[in-house]
Amino acid sequence: MKKIITVIGSYNHDMVFQTPYFPKPGETITARSFEMFSGGKGANQAVAASRLGGDVFFITKVGNDEFGSTSKEKFSKDSIRTNYILQDTSLPSGTAIIMVNDEGQNCIVITPGANDNLLPRDIDACCLAIEKANFVLIQLEIPYRTVEHALELSHNMKKKIILNPAPTVPLEDHVYQKLHLITPNQTEASLLTGIEVENEQSASMAADVFLKKGVQNVIITLGEKGAYFKNSEEQFLVPIQEVEVKDTTGAGDIFNGALVVALSEGKNWRQAVEFANLASSIGVSRLGAQSSAPYRNEISM
Ligand code: RIB
Repeated sequence: MKKIITVIGSYNHDMVFQTPYFPKPGETITARSFEMFSGGKGANQAVAASRLGGDVFFITKVGNDEFGSTSKEKFSKDSIRTNYILQDTSLPSGTAIIMVNDEGQNCIVITPGANDNLLPRDIDACCLAIEKANFVLIQLEIPYRTVEHALELSHNMKKKIILNPAPTVPLEDHVYQKLHLITPNQTEASLLTGIEVENEQSASMAADVFLKKGVQNVIITLGEKGAYFKNSEEQFLVPIQEVEVKDTTGAGDIFNGALVVALSEGKNWRQAVEFANLASSIGVSRLGAQSSAPYRNEISM
């Protein structure tokens, strides 16, 4: 039987403008294209995990609008269990305005909408999804107190908790102490540890800070340099395959979704990071975040 993965996090409606470059203050520019996608860090990670073969519950709160009302249908098409997709009665769905430039880099502005109303009591109402889970994957695009509550509940139930600390806020020690794994990118790792993370050596120093705080395992993604792993027994860098980059939006989400699937299948750390690197390198070669998440048959591992 497959191990169960419960993803807790945000749902956004992404409005993506492909622009030649990012406008300066006061400048108006014309986009090369405009498209709308389902997004949100939580949703992107849930979709990536499910497409890659994970058995996924998703706990989220969508808005009182068309995007929210059709989201369950969309998630079911991706074989996600939708019992815990809650709909807010007052707020609209979260929205993200995303600009992607010709280098594939992005700028994102978010209005949280219903994500801000995913409250600790909602997590209690969805606790069956945590009880059934082997792995709980969570990010920081929902209220911090909700994250704390979900961590507390999952930790008490002895679940393996993976925190993708995005977007970053300062974390308290009790949060670190509950984590099986933390997966910041290099910017997030720098903000959280105060160490400028640029390469394998500085990633190792930042990882030590997390390990000292009580996290059991650390993966720091380093963009085109790959991903760095460290725990008390081993450390290594897994380089990423070179691809033509179209859009880096959601690369970290695909990495996290893929990683948790690999771990749920019993792959070792190195294999899991290789699998996640492969998935995210496919993602960056396409437009959009969730829309670019690969299917299992696209990865030969
Ligand atoms: O990580 C990418 C995601 O960040 C986008 O889908 C957007 O919705 C924001 O949450």
